[in-house]
Amino acid sequence: PDRYYSEYIRSVIRTVPDWPEQGVMFRDVTTLFKDKKAFRYLIDAFVQRYYDHGIDAVAGVDARGFILGAPIAYELNTSFIPVRKKGKLPFDTVEESYELEYGSATVELHTDALSKGQRVLLIDDLIATGGTMLAAAKLIQRLGADVVEAAAIIDLPDLGGSAKLKAQGIEVYSICQFD
Ligand code: PRP
Ligand code: ADE
Repeated sequence: PDRYYSEYIRSVIRTVPDWPEQGVMFRDVTTLFKDKKAFRYLIDAFVQRYYDHGIDAVAGVDARGFILGAPIAYELNTSFIPVRKKGKLPFDTVEESYELEYGSATVELHTDALSKGQRVLLIDDLIATGGTMLAAAKLIQRLGADVVEAAAIIDLPDLGGSAKLKAQGIEVYSICQFD
């Protein structure tokens, strides 16, 4: 988006040092979602970027990717698909495990969530090591659908996640970056 918009969005993200553990600078987007002007700029920026990309479905990652993905899917007039943390989805699933900046996790997708050849926008609040986005992208691809782009509000380029995703052939987009 415009520099003005991305700088405004960046300015209302709160940083919480040493959470959830010592040494992590946690980028907290609740302050961004609380700011109605910033939230509108944010959703509008994603909608404007993707309205002409032929998107069939927006896949949002548990949990903050749901908050972003739902209004974007609504505005793009597409499906919304939740990529969930393990143990939450009731029907048959595919799953992928990955490592985080702190700890490890598993994500799941319903086996009938997407069909072959569908064009999917993958969205989450933040890319750190890229483990979450990469696992979600693999699930989408396992169902035969295509990841048009992995989009996030925030990229932490020093953690190498966006570079790792690009190296795997996944396009990446972020509104702002933090060291
Ligand atoms: C955060 C964030 C991303 C992920 C990014 O979620 O919302 O999903 O970390 O990290 P990565 O690029 O290293 O994979 P977290 O796993 O803390 O889970 P939460 O949504 O339950 O808070
Ligand atoms: N997920 C992984 N690293 C993070 C960070 N620094 N801030 C917020 N979410 C994260």
